[in-house]
Amino acid sequence: MCGIVGYIGFRKADQVVISSLKRLEYRGYDSWGIAVKHNNKIMLVKRVGAISEDKMHEMAEGNIGIGHTRWATHGKPSEFNAHPHTDCSGEIAVVHNGIISNFQSLKEELEKKGHKFKSETDTEVISHLIEEFYRGDLKDAVSKTIDVLRGSYAIVVMHARKEELVAVRYKSPLVLGIGDEEWIIASDVPAILDYTSRVIYLEDGDVVSLTKEGFEIWKGNERVERKIETIPWSIEDAEKGGYDHFMLKEIHETPRVIEDTLFEYISEGVDIDVSFSAGISEIIFIACGTSYHASLVGKYLIEKLTGIPARVEFASEFIYNQPPMSRSLVISITQSGETADTLEAMRIAKKHGARVLAIVNVLGSTATRIADHVLYTRAGPEISVAATKSFIAQLVILYLIALKLSRLSRSEIERLAEELRVMPELVRKVLEQEGKIEQIAGKLAGYENMMYIGRGIGVPIAMEGALKMKEISYIHAEAYPAGELKHGPFALLGKNTPVIASLVPDETYEIMLSNIKEVKARESLVIAVADEHDSEIEKYVDFVIRVPKTDSIFTAITHSVALQLLAYYTARERGCEIDKPRNLAKSVTVE
Ligand code: M6R
Repeated sequence: MCGIVGYIGFRKADQVVISSLKRLEYRGYDSWGIAVKHNNKIMLVKRVGAISEDKMHEMAEGNIGIGHTRWATHGKPSEFNAHPHTDCSGEIAVVHNGIISNFQSLKEELEKKGHKFKSETDTEVISHLIEEFYRGDLKDAVSKTIDVLRGSYAIVVMHARKEELVAVRYKSPLVLGIGDEEWIIASDVPAILDYTSRVIYLEDGDVVSLTKEGFEIWKGNERVERKIETIPWSIEDAEKGGYDHFMLKEIHETPRVIEDTLFEYISEGVDIDVSFSAGISEIIFIACGTSYHASLVGKYLIEKLTGIPARVEFASEFIYNQPPMSRSLVISITQSGETADTLEAMRIAKKHGARVLAIVNVLGSTATRIADHVLYTRAGPEISVAATKSFIAQLVILYLIALKLSRLSRSEIERLAEELRVMPELVRKVLEQEGKIEQIAGKLAGYENMMYIGRGIGVPIAMEGALKMKEISYIHAEAYPAGELKHGPFALLGKNTPVIASLVPDETYEIMLSNIKEVKARESLVIAVADEHDSEIEKYVDFVIRVPKTDSIFTAITHSVALQLLAYYTARERGCEIDKPRNLAKSVTVE
């Protein structure tokens, strides 16, 4: 996720901007850049890789500056694509977070008017549009620009001949820090805290003009006042957005991640390009860990909605199993894009002549270079070792592919797409259950074994729930299809082994109730994840985690978020080191 900073005041702007960008490094980035105004000129430095101060002497004495850390979305990581972006004259510099969804048509119009573009980014249209509208009033030019932008944005702009910064926020965070005769504006609080703890959280549509005399906030033609708040956190707390762990912060980012991922691939209808599927006879998913569980959901969806045969292979086992054919579509799912087993399986698939589609979170990662086609999840950097928001983003892409390839009626597809659109809201409702989930976790924390069960789509939900629990709480947690219990695992059940059951409101529901009765007869504590309207379930189990009603196929999202929280609070109760579990790494680059 990108980070932006703007500074105006009495200090050397390059130093402030660089130190503030460093405070945003924890968010992850692949390139960076800064611009400082000096002698009516914009001095620019842009680099790929980590922030360094090698060229800073060129920045001279200017005390107005902007900077950006980039997590590439449109266009690979490169100096050309790094922000700040300038206009044709080089007098206007812009940093931007978010996505300009209509940038292509805007770019074509601007090119017809003679604008020359230097990057592949959506952001560059902003600097050229401001140039088009600029008549000596920077705030006015920025206001006119945002009238034609669609998408989400936090933008900071400077002009070589103005003692001013102009910033605007729409669906992408922006915080104004208020110091003594200096102002700093940034996408995230840690960038500000070294200079001041007095901040204004800007609202959607706010346009801010910052000069050395002070600031004004405008909404349309009206000047508005915003409350000044005092941040009570330390820098380290602030990086975690006030959450105790990155894992919890990342779980809470899920609604936004779903919105961002949907935004990319859904507008009037499901717009995902599935040309990679032309002429295929089967789909083979390859992945590891959490991404493997996303693949299991993918297989379920593909078979249920499209009728295309699908199988799932552990990437590390792929070489030992039935090889793909030239008409196989291999879908490799990987958050990092660097997992050694997954990369090797992709290479093997290609050797057999199969087409390879990668679903990846990290732009420019190795998987994106091996694959024939790439679809990006928009989860942003995931710092906690436990995959949470990236898993949900993978599911969103799989729903979109399955819906696009679906043989359901148009109205049924539209109904499901509509349910997917409201998923951010439903996940927010799951997050509202946090207090209740924390209480239930308190009951689980003393056990050393657990069993997760489900049927149908409930099986991968159970498997991912158990993985989350074991990796961060160190409780031995197994997952089984509920029907398999009688074939062995029943021997483990009893007072010392709680069972977590995912109840999906579909044809599996009744038989799941019977299985739960059998479990209760062995005196296990039973916790159910069930629909908010399910009035039956309370009679059968000890505790219920309620999730909002949705079509059964989407329970993979609602139940998984609830189980992520359950694992988190259980691990926390046990005092585990949640973000960096023992023996594990975020990116597993050895086979
Ligand atoms: O980056 P990848 O998705 O390829 O990583 C695969 C697994 O290592 C990963 O999903 C792992 O299981 C999770 N971090 C567990 O939460």
